[in-house]
Amino acid sequence: MKEKILEVKNLKQHFGSIKAVDGISFDVYKGETLGLVGESGCGKSTTGRSIIRLYDITDGEVIFQGENIHGKKSKKELKKFNKDMQMIFQDPYASLNPRMTAGEIIAEGFDIHGMHKDSKKRKQVIGTLLESVGLNREHANRYAHEFSGGQRQRIGIARALSLDPSFIIADEPISALDVSIQAQVVNLLKELQKERDLTYLFIAHDLSMVKYISDRIAVMRAGKIVELGSSEDIYNYPVHPYTKSLLSAIPLPDPISESTRTRIPYKEEEATGELSTHEVFPGHFVYGTDEQVKRWYKG
Ligand SMILES: Nc1ncnc2c1ncn2[C@@H]1O[C@H](COP(=O)(O)OP(=O)(O)OP(=O)(O)O)[C@@H](O)[C@H]1O
Ligand SMILES: [Mg+2]
Repeated sequence: MKEKILEVKNLKQHFGSIKAVDGISFDVYKGETLGLVGESGCGKSTTGRSIIRLYDITDGEVIFQGENIHGKKSKKELKKFNKDMQMIFQDPYASLNPRMTAGEIIAEGFDIHGMHKDSKKRKQVIGTLLESVGLNREHANRYAHEFSGGQRQRIGIARALSLDPSFIIADEPISALDVSIQAQVVNLLKELQKERDLTYLFIAHDLSMVKYISDRIAVMRAGKIVELGSSEDIYNYPVHPYTKSLLSAIPLPDPISESTRTRIPYKEEEATGELSTHEVFPGHFVYGTDEQVKRWYKG
């Protein structure tokens, strides 16, 4: 049996009348990457931010390493949680203070957690972290604004690693970067995962890079998870029409087939009957009415 590191149960995050996340459930297994994909505004970042407690959730449960993290917690328990779960943000320009050096950014968490107080030791730890993300020790004294976008995102990754977490939420970590360096950053994340036994929730809005990094994929639309399954099944045997539509929008590497390709438009069907999540085969979940899921799964 695979060990669950995170269980999300009927999570809701409403902002007034906006139901950004509206009752989603999924598990994340230790050591895997779960991709969370969907178009802009569907609730991906809100899901990540709710899980990591940047928001008080509207309803539901988030269980991390066996503990309900949105229940009442002691300071000590919260500190431990804040070390074990980290986030990497989409925009490496906005998420790093340009007036801080790379070393200061990486070491911020050390002060909060009272770690590496000895300055020599601290310098060494920072240097090792910089090297582990493909930068140099000497970079510690440079200011964030002196780095390129890709280098900044490496600093963001080093910061996320600095407290030795077990779970990282990466919220579109490559979408602000040049296409030419996106693959490098994804490869770095994959290597770090292997070396450090990390678990990822990897958020993206298109399915192309997600396939490459994820073991399983959850497809989100308008605050709901409409389909969840292994990456292979989502690609080869998509069931929900929305997933099929997203797949049809992935650019092809070959320019000739690319030019003849058209995205299958998604048109929401009027649902008659109750919507719920159906396990169409083990580990593959589809959201819809009984009638819809029967029809989609056949066709
Ligand atoms: N703090 C907030 N207050 C009010 N509404 C919010 C807040 N954060 C997000 N929303 C709304 O919730 C919905 C989901 O937003 P969210 O940022 O989670 O989408 P997303 O899937 O991450 O989109 P993107 O791909 O553009 O990053 C949107 O309608 C957004 O406007
Ligand atoms: Mg977002």
